[in-house]
Amino acid sequence: MRRKIVAGNWKMNLTKSEALSLYNNISSAENLAADVEKMIFAPLLFLDALKQNESGLIKIGAQNFYSEAAGAFTGEVSFSQLKDLGIRYVLVGHSERRVIFKEEDELVKAKVNAAINAGLKVIFCCGESLEIRETGTHISFVVNQLKNNVFQLPEEAFGQIVIAYEPIWAIGTGKTATPEQAEEMHEQIRLAVAQHYSNYLAEQTPILYGGSCNAGNAKELFAKPNIDGGLIGGASLKTADFIQIINSF
Ligand code: PGA
Repeated sequence: MRRKIVAGNWKMNLTKSEALSLYNNISSAENLAADVEKMIFAPLLFLDALKQNESGLIKIGAQNFYSEAAGAFTGEVSFSQLKDLGIRYVLVGHSERRVIFKEEDELVKAKVNAAINAGLKVIFCCGESLEIRETGTHISFVVNQLKNNVFQLPEEAFGQIVIAYEPIWAIGTGKTATPEQAEEMHEQIRLAVAQHYSNYLAEQTPILYGGSCNAGNAKELFAKPNIDGGLIGGASLKTADFIQIINSF
């Protein structure tokens, strides 16, 4: 059985007190599915406070970091500073980082390598734009992202990776991929992992869906054989919705 994971990506939202109370509300819910791994990717600024408040039920992760351990990188936070706070999970390759902050494959790959070498667990995001989907090359595009960003890892290190497929046209748009569209891509991602590494590793690797996943559509998405959970943006900011998504398997 593969791990089931629901991760919230709070993005650049909430004040510190809102973040702490949302975290506490979710983690104190009585009916959270026990067999689902639960994570919150919070703004860097609140990680220390959240970490001190961590319940164990819901892990805290970082949305971003830089690939160098320390040095003259004004405004950045390093993977070793995250580790020092006790953070164990990081997002890498999110399309908002790629598109808005111009993170290219080379940097994404360096971040993946730095995080894995530091012993952090990576949720690696991939996904195509609408233009690419319309040309029909979305599968090879996403497989190339895997090749360029994560397939350099040795087999054992790749075992620390969780993949999140997030079609850019579905993120924050209210336009979810259909369960069939998502399943098709997840199946192809798993096949690419099998071809590059092994069937065993492909079977073990959790592949999450992200992009307007919400309390209303999570059940249908998570029912697909290759969808192992979700990376949830907007709907992770509402306690009841996020709990319902966690309980959607
Ligand atoms: P969304 O964001 O659920 O708001 O579409 C998902 C994500 O960007 O991780």
